Amino acid sequence: MIDPADAAKRLAAARALELVHSGMRLGLGTGSTAAHFVALLGERVAQGLKIVGVPTSEQTRAQAERLNIPLSTLDEIPELDLTIDGADEFDPSLRLIKGGGAALLREKIVAAASLRMVVVTDRSKQVATLGRYPLPVEVDRFGLESTRRHVLRVADETGCSGAVSVRLDEKGHVLVTDGGHPILDCAFGSIPDPEALARGLNAIPGVVEHGLFIGLAKAIIVADADGVEVIGDLA
Ligand code: 5RP
Repeated sequence: MIDPADAAKRLAAARALELVHSGMRLGLGTGSTAAHFVALLGERVAQGLKIVGVPTSEQTRAQAERLNIPLSTLDEIPELDLTIDGADEFDPSLRLIKGGGAALLREKIVAAASLRMVVVTDRSKQVATLGRYPLPVEVDRFGLESTRRHVLRVADETGCSGAVSVRLDEKGHVLVTDGGHPILDCAFGSIPDPEALARGLNAIPGVVEHGLFIGLAKAIIVADADGVEVIGDLA
């Protein structure tokens, strides 16, 4: 049986594919929704579409390589036309929480290098206030506990509260990102002032990057059983 959420993710990905034209330089996101986009893109490439992609994770790189999608790096192509990526949450101001798949650092670098970032998602990710999904914060391994306490302090100063814990992998070991760092998952429940929290997190020396994406997404393609809605501007 087809999972309705997965069908919605594929629908959103298919709508995003309509934005792609030959000659484009594309950022390729990470996660199950982005994977639908990469799969559909692979079909178009096999039919002759000429694009080059920059993957946001080793997982996406592996998928794109299997599909013979031409790949490059931001060192060779420092500016991209369009990035298509998923999200763990989005609010009415197109602010996002990302990093559920531990790829937030490369995802943010690639989004920031893109003229447009368009998010593909199913309806379950839509919230009035960010924070239901635990906010991922990628940190340096050095001074981890000290950094965790700074994160708790910044949370307190910006109206957030909740457990901040080191993410573990399936085997119970500290998860390590593609960049070689651990992740702190911040179970705040609600983030009343995402900009203030982002500023505070950016000021902590041990924080490599956080999963608040503010001012990056130009549009969100959100799908459910009723079809596709575009929030923001696809142009
Ligand atoms: C990975 C991400 C993903 O975009 C996010 O976790 C959404 O994933 P999915 O499409 O599987 O729900 O930020 O770091």
